[in-house]
This record gives sequence, C-alpha cells and structure tokens, in this order.
Amino acid sequence: MTAAAFLLLKIEQAGPARAWLQEILRGELTTAEEIPREQRERRHACLNTAFTWQGLKALGLDEKSLQTFPYEFRQGMAGRAHVLGDTGPGAPEHWDFGGKRPGGPPPEDIHLLLMLYARSEDILRTMLSRQRERLVAQGFRELYCQRATHLREEKDGQIFFREHFGFRDSLSQPVIRGFMKPSRDSDEYDSPIAAGEFILGHENEYQEKPLSPSVPAALDPQARLGPAEAPDRKDLGLNGTYLVLRKLEQDVDGLQAFLEKNKALAPSGCGDDEKRKEWLKAKLLGRWPNGAALKPGQYEAPDLGAQPPSNAFRYAQEDEGGLGCPVTSHVRRTNPRDALAPTPDLSLKVSRRHRILRRGIAYDTSREEGGPPSSGRGLIFIALNANIGRQFEFIQQSWMNNEKTGRLYNEQDPVASGHDRGMMTLPAKPLRRCVMNLQSFVTMKGGGYFFLPGVKALEFLAHLTPLAARQDS
Ligand code: HEM
Repeated sequence: MTAAAFLLLKIEQAGPARAWLQEILRGELTTAEEIPREQRERRHACLNTAFTWQGLKALGLDEKSLQTFPYEFRQGMAGRAHVLGDTGPGAPEHWDFGGKRPGGPPPEDIHLLLMLYARSEDILRTMLSRQRERLVAQGFRELYCQRATHLREEKDGQIFFREHFGFRDSLSQPVIRGFMKPSRDSDEYDSPIAAGEFILGHENEYQEKPLSPSVPAALDPQARLGPAEAPDRKDLGLNGTYLVLRKLEQDVDGLQAFLEKNKALAPSGCGDDEKRKEWLKAKLLGRWPNGAALKPGQYEAPDLGAQPPSNAFRYAQEDEGGLGCPVTSHVRRTNPRDALAPTPDLSLKVSRRHRILRRGIAYDTSREEGGPPSSGRGLIFIALNANIGRQFEFIQQSWMNNEKTGRLYNEQDPVASGHDRGMMTLPAKPLRRCVMNLQSFVTMKGGGYFFLPGVKALEFLAHLTPLAARQDS
C-alpha cells in the first residue's frame, strides 16, 4: 500500500461509535483472512483501528478492567515523556497531537486511531471522505488527520521503502515463529522469535504468556472471548497487540549541512565529496543508504546488483570494535544483536527480548492539500509489541538515549535522539575519529500508545454493554 491516512478521533457518543465498529467489522476491517478476488476495492485498501486507554474508557469499559492494562499504556505516550526523552522542542506541549499543554487548556484526549492505507492517493482520498462523513454522523470528532506516503523504490522486481534521509528502511524485521518465513533462511542473523513478543495470548521469549487485559465474564454473554487466567474473567488481549505511533520530523537540510561541514572526517579513500558525505551519513546510521551492512575497511557502498540487502550480519565476530558499524550508530544501538557483554550467545538471547515490528511510512506535509500548518517532513514511526515497557520504551530509553554505551560516554543515538552539541565516536585504526557538535536531526511531533485488539476482542468492544447500563436494566 502506497498512501496512508491516520485519523485521530475522539468518541463523543459511545453508542453510535460502537455501532460504527459493528459496521466496519461486517467487511471493511482488514484481518489476516484472504480477501476474495472479486472484492477489488477491498484488495486495494486496508482499514484498521486501535484505542488509547482513554478511548476504551470512553467506549464504556469498566474501571476494574481498565486497570488490567499495563501501566505504560495507561499513562499514554505524553505521560511517559520523561522516560522517552521527549523534552525541549520535542516535549508534549509542542506536539501536533497527543500532547499536553502545561498552563494552557488541556488538549482533547485521543480515543481512537483509524488507519487507512490504499494502493493510490485517489483510492485513499475516496476512503477518507467516505469515512469522515460516517464518523461525524456516528459520534466521533476528528482531532487530527496525518497523511503519509511511502517513498517507494523498485529495483529488479523488489520493492524498497526509503525514509527522508535517503536510507532504505524496514529492512531488519523480526521473523515471527510459526507466522512468516524469511524469503531465504540465509537472509537472517538469528532464528525466528516467539510470537508472544508481538501478539498477546501466545508464548513469549520467556516461555510465558504476556500479561493480558481482561473483563468480567458477565460482560461477555455471547462468549466472544476466551477465558482469562483469573476466575470469572475473560481475556480481552488474545491476538491483540500494542501499537506505538510517533510523528518524527526530520531535518533533512540540517543533516545535509552537517555532512557538508564535517565531510573531512571521512578517510581520503572514500573518493570525492559526495562519497565522503555518504560515508559519514552511513556511519551515523550504521548501514549504507542502499541497505547494505557496513563492514570494516569499506569506503564505498557495495554494489548490490540483483541481490537485495541482507539482514544476515552479526557484530561480535566480524566487527567487535565497530570499525565497520560504529557501536553507537542508530542500528547498532536499536538492535545490538550479538554485541552485548558478556558473550555473543547471551547477547542474542537478551536482544531477542527487545525487538519490535516496525511499520514506518514517510510524510511530507508540503505535498498535501490542506495540510496542517506545521509543515515539514518526517517519518510516521509505528512499532508493534506485546510489552511497550520492555520493548519500544527499552529501546528508546536504554539503548538509543543511553549516554554510556559500549565503553563510550556522553553519546546518544546520532540520528534519532535529541541533541544539543552531541558527539559520536567513529572507531578507526590507528586513531578513532570524533564527530562533534551533533545537532538534533529528528524532532518528536506527536504520538500515542494504542491497543490494537484481535478480531474477537473488537467484536466484544463493538457490542459492549457497559456495566452501569446492565445494572440499571
Ligand atoms: C526519524 C527517525 C528514524 C529514522 C530516520 C530511522 C531510520 C532507520 C533506518 C534507515 C534503519 C535501517 C534499515 C532497517 O533495518 O530497517 C533503521 C533501523 C532500525 N530502527 Fe530506526 N529510524 C528512526 C527512528 C527509530 C526509533 C524511534 C526507533 C525505536 C525506538 C527505531 C528502531 C529501529 C530498529 C529496531 C531498527 C532495526 C535495527 C536492526 O535490527 O538492525 N528507529 N532505522
């Protein structure tokens, strides 16, 4: 799917909102089921919906059930700003949506995220206007609409997505055990990961089922949900997950100016100025822009020919000191693979417990008709995980923003963390090089934590009769 729209909605009338959920369940919602060939329109579009904690409350879920959701989710992304490093220009008071305004009137709480994806802008536009009409009539208020478009590149029959800094993105994704297979086993650096890391109700990498939200059995007379661990309760989490959405503005001109100013850091073997800048940019991120892994002693991106970039690399054996892929680069921080102390085997085991499924898509407000006033371009970063605290937040807080990594100090993720005169060490022989005065190339602009229910749980929510209403009747 090429084009997307993310609608951030508030539920103003729970009854009509639940009726809309029932309607989308009758054939519009995209599920794992194969869509018949004759339903051409549906095959060219996707529709999914997810709820914030406030949204579940607005839909009528009782307080005790709401408390069965994890703490991070209940607090919401803005409430976790101190953990995520969303401060300064990236603080919630500056966000386009999902933020908080200290001292000012409180912004409206986001209740629901409606995600629309389509094969073309035209199809998306039609879907969007159709949905908007219905949403207004069915008890919703639109708080924000974020459009996005994949920067697609087709090479030798393969489709790649790029982000605005010019890198191929979405290359390293966890392979889920029992669900999908890499095209070739040799494309991966490790074996598939337990499904419970990404989908509630399944065993995770600790050989246990993740914590799952539950509701009183009395709320489910139609038996849509399976049993929960606690007696007299039903499992609302089964086959659902948590969705993290972040609007990350990218300062493309700022990065270009920085590379121009610092290109002399690249060794002379790199070639002309453009090649030097490409080398430096690759070192910050930890992969070549074409997606190839960075290897020690390489000055230029390898010609990939017909071969797509592979994910079959580890660090401990080939590149322990980070002579190829710097220890503090974006990709090595966000997934250290086998490079953590004390041993490669233990490192693989640990890093498997901090993976996320990423579904990023680029935005460029200058290309949208009637785009929001805060024009700019960037990435709509989406991560799916069963445990926001142990997976997404851990990566952001303990790996990306951690100033003490790999025996280095005062360094953070050079690409995606907020900096004020940051630095980065580029290991090299005989002498390492230091990148100084790194500025922030990415600014947080809005986001939220959402619960993406499984189909049965969505059916349950769509037919929910709140406890209070039951007691009255
Ligand atoms: C605008 C901000 C960002 C940009 C431009 C960006 C870009 C990239 C690129 C180009 C890659 C390499 C290609 C790939 O493996 O898919 C990558 C990998 C990755 N990024 Fe980001 N990213 C951003 C923010 C984030 C954030 C906020 C997180 C998580 C908190 C994150 C987590 C990851 C992970 C886990 C990988 C895969 C590493 C691996 O397995 O080797 N990224 N990113």
